[in-house]
Amino acid sequence: MELTDQQVASARARLSGLRTRLDADGLPGLMVSAEHDIWYLTGFVGHSALLMVTPNRAVIICDRRYEELLQAWDACELFEVVMGARHKLGDEVKRLADEDGLDKVGIQAEAMTIAFRDGLLKSLGDLELIPTSGLVSKLRECKSNEEVELIERAIGIQQDALEVVLSDLKPGMTESQFTARLEYEMRMRGAEGASFEPIVGSGPNSSVIHHMPGDRPIEDGMLLIDWGARVEGYCSDLTRTFCFGEMPSPMERVYEVVLEALEAAIDCCRPGADCAEVDAAARDVIAAAGWADQFPHGLGHGVGMDVHESPYFSNRSGGVLLEPGMIMTVEPGVYLPGIGGVRLEEDVLITESGNRVLSTWPRDLESARRASLRA
Ligand code: GLY
Ligand code: MN
Ligand code: MN
Repeated sequence: MELTDQQVASARARLSGLRTRLDADGLPGLMVSAEHDIWYLTGFVGHSALLMVTPNRAVIICDRRYEELLQAWDACELFEVVMGARHKLGDEVKRLADEDGLDKVGIQAEAMTIAFRDGLLKSLGDLELIPTSGLVSKLRECKSNEEVELIERAIGIQQDALEVVLSDLKPGMTESQFTARLEYEMRMRGAEGASFEPIVGSGPNSSVIHHMPGDRPIEDGMLLIDWGARVEGYCSDLTRTFCFGEMPSPMERVYEVVLEALEAAIDCCRPGADCAEVDAAARDVIAAAGWADQFPHGLGHGVGMDVHESPYFSNRSGGVLLEPGMIMTVEPGVYLPGIGGVRLEEDVLITESGNRVLSTWPRDLESARRASLRA
């Protein structure tokens, strides 16, 4: 097997982007240990691998589970593969650093345990390990057209799956059974799986922000579904809230406020917008309705190979500016314990001129109303 021209071109561009960043930071090399960063830079996905990037080399260090698969990378001029050296990694890193005359190498502070670093240090002699943070995630923030297409495919799959599961919903089906069916339908439509464990909260469980689906039967009342699919490594992440039968007071008003907050924030999404100001646009609407304290989480996050990735919309994101190609979730919510919650979540692509919402599932109040399950 060989890597395709497209895979090689993409890896070449991404490695070059990383080398430019390393050069700007005065780092001669980076030991990449975050699995999704290795995937992004090489196209190779496997557990417990390491990627050493220097100005002239990109070396994948891996164990023999991946020997056959990695032949394609070994045959590609961009990469070297060192097989079977995972257990003597420190020696291998030292050997590569000596060959390239490096006196220091960056490590990913967000993806390396202290125990792992201490183990490495035993073999490194004078080679210094420099903690870095966010070097590759910064590169991943702006998506290419191909990456946008994969996320749109994931959204199409998750929407189609929800449509069929909702249309088959019968009284007595539990949150857990609903979730299992949703995951099954996403896989049947070509997803690798869910992009995270779906949140399916019925009745009062809809106010539990990250509710784990359980054995509660879905009955009349609120139903909050936060779900997504993964396609070729790329995640989608949407939330819709429904109501079967009559909406309990004051959820109708809550729904309208959350929708207004969502739309106010989406209206702010354009290149150059400050992430804290986008967060505030939604938060101000909810605060004006008197529910500031019932919206206790950030407004959203980047979405890509990780379901949560930088940048983030929160009141701590001042100075972080949106750029074309970013895909951000916008997900305000209001949660009233014991009564229910409403969250609405969209995946929003930042374009040159503004933004484009990637989902097609309606989000107005009328679309949230469903017939009673008792009928
Ligand atoms: N799926 C969790 C979230 O929406 O961030
Ligand atoms: Mn979500
Ligand atoms: Mn989200």
